[in-house]
Amino acid sequence: MSSTAQSTPVVSPPGQDEHRPAFPFESKVLTRLTPTLRKFILLGKVAIVTGVTSSGGRGLGFNIAQSLCESGIRGLAIFDMQQQLGETAAREMSKETGVDVRFYKVDVRDEHEIAAAVADMAERFGRIDVLVNAAGIAE
Ligand SMILES: NC(=O)c1ccc[n+]([C@@H]2O[C@H](COP(=O)([O-])OP(=O)(O)OC[C@H]3O[C@@H](n4cnc5c(N)ncnc54)[C@H](O)[C@@H]3O)[C@@H](O)[C@H]2O)c1
Repeated sequence: MSSTAQSTPVVSPPGQDEHRPAFPFESKVLTRLTPTLRKFILLGKVAIVTGVTSSGGRGLGFNIAQSLCESGIRGLAIFDMQQQLGETAAREMSKETGVDVRFYKVDVRDEHEIAAAVADMAERFGRIDVLVNAAGIAE
């Protein structure tokens, strides 16, 4: 077993989410990547993730949003119905990673709310590269 695997705590009980802070992307890692691997990072991209709240769920969207912020993106929109939890998630991720993370109160069943939020994102960032749909009801 590698030392990294040994130092990673096992989530207990299995399946329960564990809150951990996100880490900022460090541009110095670029110098250690091969030209091929450099094509696989998300430097400067802009993403939307639906279904992101900071706690209380198993948080697929939350964990995906954190991963994107750690992968070099410059802008992220969180679309979720839960305003308070969504705003907290956006604030925390921004603070931890330096990425411009914005919360939009959006019910993904409402096409008008989606259109307004997407238009605002496109205007602010000039592009949208990634969409991850994680909004849903787990049980
Ligand atoms: N967690 C898993 O292991 C797993 C596995 C397979 C499938 N899924 C599916 O993935 C989805 C997300 O799962 P999760 O565990 O992250 O759930 P979660 O409850 O932790 O998060 C779901 C998020 O979606 C948001 N949401 C729900 N309805 C919405 C709507 N109409 N508009 C906007 N936001 C909305 C909630 O506010 C919440 O933030 C669910 O549909 C679940 O069934 C989850």
